[in-house]
Amino acid sequence: MEAVNLTVALTAASGAVFCRELLRALEADARVARVSFVPSENSLRVLAEELSLGGRNDLLEKLLGAAPVKTVQLADADIGASIASGSYPSNGMIVLPCSMGALAAIANGLANTLIARAADVTLKERRPLLLCVRETPFNRIHLRNMTLAAEAGAVIFPVIPAFYNKPIDSTEMARQFVYRVLGHIGLVQSAAYVWKAEE
Ligand SMILES: Cc1cc2nc3c(=O)[nH]c(=O)nc-3n(C[C@H](O)[C@H](O)[C@H](O)COP(=O)(O)O)c2cc1C
Repeated sequence: MEAVNLTVALTAASGAVFCRELLRALEADARVARVSFVPSENSLRVLAEELSLGGRNDLLEKLLGAAPVKTVQLADADIGASIASGSYPSNGMIVLPCSMGALAAIANGLANTLIARAADVTLKERRPLLLCVRETPFNRIHLRNMTLAAEAGAVIFPVIPAFYNKPIDSTEMARQFVYRVLGHIGLVQSAAYVWKAEE
């Protein structure tokens, strides 16, 4: 398998633990060569609330629990970063969690932040774009934007974890959700729970 190059965006919806587990799984996956990680400005607030992580300095090290080997952090304001161009070789992008604001920007092609631009590029280059939306309940604007994004080629992959695997805690729940996300883009994880009806 060719070395995989992915973009991961963290936006300010609830569920920062899911992104942490995604970044950890990608760092541990030998098939993955490079991860471009873009946290939105507002996601820093949610990181503080949910994971008690402060500031953007050493953020990756704090999320991974070790120095990153293949993951690089990019600023959402840096619209000149390499992932903003279709010429940059990428195998796809995952927005986890995806706020309704980020969904709106992506679905309507605003391309005014690095996250929105990289998603726009991913769609125009016909590469996989997974929007792991998180909100409840949805209003009609959310529903319309999800349809718009899906029609443009994105996969709406809501943060809805499974319970039939009986996760022992929220980390395990997040990890198994992330394994589903990775399986969807062709990075099947050996530790992913597989339902077997006869057991
Ligand atoms: C603790 C917290 C939890 C939030 N949870 C959600 C959520 O689950 N979904 C959502 O769409 N917005 C949520 N928001 C609101 C977004 O953070 C807000 O709309 C923000 O402008 C999104 O910014 P971003 O898309 O640039 O990251 C939450 C905000 C806070 C502070």
